[in-house]
Amino acid sequence: MGDDGRRKKVEDLRSARWLRPDDLRSFGHRSRLKQMGYGSEDYAGKPVIGIINTWSDLTICHTHFRDRAQEVKRGVLQAGGFPVEIPAMPVNEIFMKPSPLLYRNLLAMEVEELLRSQPIDGVVLMGGCDKTTPGLLMGAFSVNLPLVYLPAGPMLRGNWQGQTLGSGSDGWKYWAERCAGNLSTEDWNAIEDGIARSPGHCMTMGTASTMTALAETLGLTLPGASSIPAVDANHSRMASACGRRIVEMVWEDLKPGDLLTAASFDNAITVDMAIGGSTNAIVHLLAMAGRAGIPLQLGRFDEISQRTPMLANIRPSGQFLMEDFYYAGGLRALQAQLTSLLDLSCRTVNGKSLGENIAGARIFKPEVIRTFDNPVARQGGTAVLFGNLAPDGAVIKPTAATPELLQHVGRAVVFRDYNDMAARIDDESLPVDPGSVLVLKHAGPLGGPGMPEWGMLPIPKKLLRQGVRDLVRISDARMSGTSYGTCVLHVSPESFIGGPLALVEDGDLIELDLAGRRLELRVSEEEMARRRASWVRPAPHYQRGYGAIFSERVRQAHEGCDFDFLEAGAPTPEPEIH
Ligand code: FES
Repeated sequence: MGDDGRRKKVEDLRSARWLRPDDLRSFGHRSRLKQMGYGSEDYAGKPVIGIINTWSDLTICHTHFRDRAQEVKRGVLQAGGFPVEIPAMPVNEIFMKPSPLLYRNLLAMEVEELLRSQPIDGVVLMGGCDKTTPGLLMGAFSVNLPLVYLPAGPMLRGNWQGQTLGSGSDGWKYWAERCAGNLSTEDWNAIEDGIARSPGHCMTMGTASTMTALAETLGLTLPGASSIPAVDANHSRMASACGRRIVEMVWEDLKPGDLLTAASFDNAITVDMAIGGSTNAIVHLLAMAGRAGIPLQLGRFDEISQRTPMLANIRPSGQFLMEDFYYAGGLRALQAQLTSLLDLSCRTVNGKSLGENIAGARIFKPEVIRTFDNPVARQGGTAVLFGNLAPDGAVIKPTAATPELLQHVGRAVVFRDYNDMAARIDDESLPVDPGSVLVLKHAGPLGGPGMPEWGMLPIPKKLLRQGVRDLVRISDARMSGTSYGTCVLHVSPESFIGGPLALVEDGDLIELDLAGRRLELRVSEEEMARRRASWVRPAPHYQRGYGAIFSERVRQAHEGCDFDFLEAGAPTPEPEIH
C-alpha cells in the first residue's frame, strides 16, 4: 500500500509517464508498442513488469531460464500486468576471467540503469549463479522499485558409480587423490561426466545456495523459493507465482526500501551462519547493505556467528546436498529452528512477516537439518579475524577447516602472485612441510584483480603423497563456497595496495588463533618498517575501459568491494520524459 494505506491508481503507475499523456512523445511510445504487435488492451492501465533475465549460452546455471521467463510472464498476465523480458549481463562463475566478482558491479550498474531509464513499474529478477544474486539485488535496491527475486534453484545431486558428488567440493577432493596417484584417468573422466548433470546452480552450500537463501531471508523471494531444485515442477509453479505477486506488489507499492532494515540484515547473517554459508556472502552482504543505506560492519558477522549454531548438514561443511535440504523441509524448516535468534516481524515480498511465512514449517530429515540441541557446530560457519597481518579483518570458515590447524603457528612459504604459486607449488625443492603456512599475495580486489577464488591454495604434491590434505593458507583472495580447508581469506587491506600481507617473507612466523580471533605476523615493528620503506606499489592492471573504473573506485573486501560512487547517498532523479 502507499503511505496512506491505499492502493496505487492507474495514473500513479511509473509507466504512465511514458504511456498515458496525449502528446507526441507518448504517441511514439505507444505506436512502437503496436509495432511489436501489442494493442492497448495489452498494456493500457496495467503495471509494466520487467523480467530481468541473466540467461546466456555460457551461463551454465541458468539454462532453464528461457522456460522460467515464460512461466513468469504467464503469472504476470494472470494477474493483469504487462510483462517485458529484458536480458542483463549473464555473469557466470565458470567461464568469466580473471574473476566474475570483477563484473558483479557492472551487472549491478546495468540493472540500475535498465530499470530507471525505462517504463518499468515492478521487476522480477532472475538469477542464482554466484554473483548474479548480489549484482541483481544491488542494482535494484538503488532504484527501489517493487521487486521479487526468482532464484535459479540448485541442480540435482551429482553421481559417480553410485556415489553422490557435490559441485566443486568433490572436484577438489578427487583432484587431490588424482595428484596423489590414487585415481585413474578413466575414473577421473567418469567423475567429469557425473558431477553436473541437470540445470541449476551448484548444489553444495556454495555461494549460489548461500546467496539465494539470504535473499529469501531478507524477504525478497516467495517463502521457500530458494530451496526448490531447478528441475522440480514446483520451481515452474514458483516462477508463475512470482509473476502474479509482483503485479500485486506494484498496486501495493511495496518496495525493497520497505523491507530492508538492520534487523533483516541481522536475520540474513544469522541464517548465513546457520547454513554454513560461503565466505563470499560477507563481501556481498556488506555491498548490499551499502546500497540499501544500512550501516553494517565486518565485526557484526563474528558477533552473530558466536551466538548462532550451524544447523544445515550440507557440504562442504557437512554431508548432504541441496536436493536433500529441500526434501528435509528446506530453508523455512531451518529458519523455524532459529526463531529465538531472528526478528520475525521483518516484512517480506508476499506482504507477510518472516514469522508468518515460517509458521508450521517442519523438519522431515533431521540428519540433514539439525536442531538447536544437536547442531553440526556450536557456532556459525564463518569467523572474522583481526591482527597485525589483517588490521581491517580477514575471514575463515572453521566448519570446513581441520580443527587441529585452527590454533597454529608456522613458518611462511610465500608466493608473490598466482603465477608464482602455480610455477613452484609442486617443485620438489619447495621448503614446505605439514606445519608450513602458505601465503599468496596479489589476489585481492585490485591485485587479482577482482579477488579470484584462489584462496584454497593447492597442497603441494610432495605433501599429498605423504597423506597431508590440509595446510594453513592465507591470502587476500576469496575461495569458492564449495571449497574447504584451513584457508584465511579476504585479508584486508590487500597486499597490492601495501597491506601488511605485502611485507611477509619466506620463513616468517605466522600465528592463527581462531579462539582469540587473531591473525598475527611475528615480525618486529622495526623490521616491518624496514620492509615497508623498500616496498613499491605495482602498476594497476588496467589503463582503460571498465577495468580502469574498477581499479580507481572499488572498495576493499571489508567494505564489500562495491564502487564508492554507487553506495546509497544522494538519490538519482527519475528521467525526464522528453
Ligand atoms: Fe554457477 Fe556454481 S557455477 S553457481
